[in-house]
Amino acid sequence: MDQNQLKKAVAEAAVAYLVEHVPVGAVIGVGTGSTANLFIDALGADPGRISGAVASSEASAKRLASFGIPLVDLNSVTELPVYVDGADEVTTDLAMIKGGGGALTREKIVAAVSRVFVCIADGSKLVDRLGRFPLPVEVIPMARAHVARQLRRLGGEPRLREGFTTDNGNIILDVHGLDIPDPAALESTVDGITGVVTVGLFARRPADVLLLGGAQGVEIRRRPAAVSVP
Ligand code: 5RP
Repeated sequence: MDQNQLKKAVAEAAVAYLVEHVPVGAVIGVGTGSTANLFIDALGADPGRISGAVASSEASAKRLASFGIPLVDLNSVTELPVYVDGADEVTTDLAMIKGGGGALTREKIVAAVSRVFVCIADGSKLVDRLGRFPLPVEVIPMARAHVARQLRRLGGEPRLREGFTTDNGNIILDVHGLDIPDPAALESTVDGITGVVTVGLFARRPADVLLLGGAQGVEIRRRPAAVSVP
């Protein structure tokens, strides 16, 4: 199976997860990227499974709407039962690097309001240690140079994502060459730099469930600490 087929397999496995664990007609959170797109397509083939979705990007909102799936404002819900999204890297502890598609801030917001984060990823995304994928950082434009200096102090080499503006009107610095032995600590440190909107480390709120696509099929992994997660 090629990478796209693996992504399709995990996207379909995520719909099967919904069938098993989420009541019909629930409102769920939907992520961004090529794997999330395939999940949206699979949802579109099962009308009525959900009554609406909170999207983590304008692109996902558009795709959901193309299937007639109602879009829900996050401010109108107190909790989402589940958030389904991809990742650029994921560890065995289910900490992630996200933001390859530039939607990291809204992804983190939707994840924060969700009871269960289901990460869907092909096997190439599983890593022992985060950091080979350049770490995306969303930055307020006027703070670009200041934030870049601070990121260099942390040992990284920030590069401006050329020609890209986030849905929130900001820029992305992709940080190369970082060693990330403690993702949660680095998440706090980078989030603490003035001018940073969000860092694409998802370690303080990692995924709860990982649907990982490989040659043998889709493996389900649960974060050890997420004991109450179905
Ligand atoms: C977008 C993301 C995506 O989930 C991540 O980039 C993975 O993308 P893909 O499913 O296309 O491999 O974080 O901001």
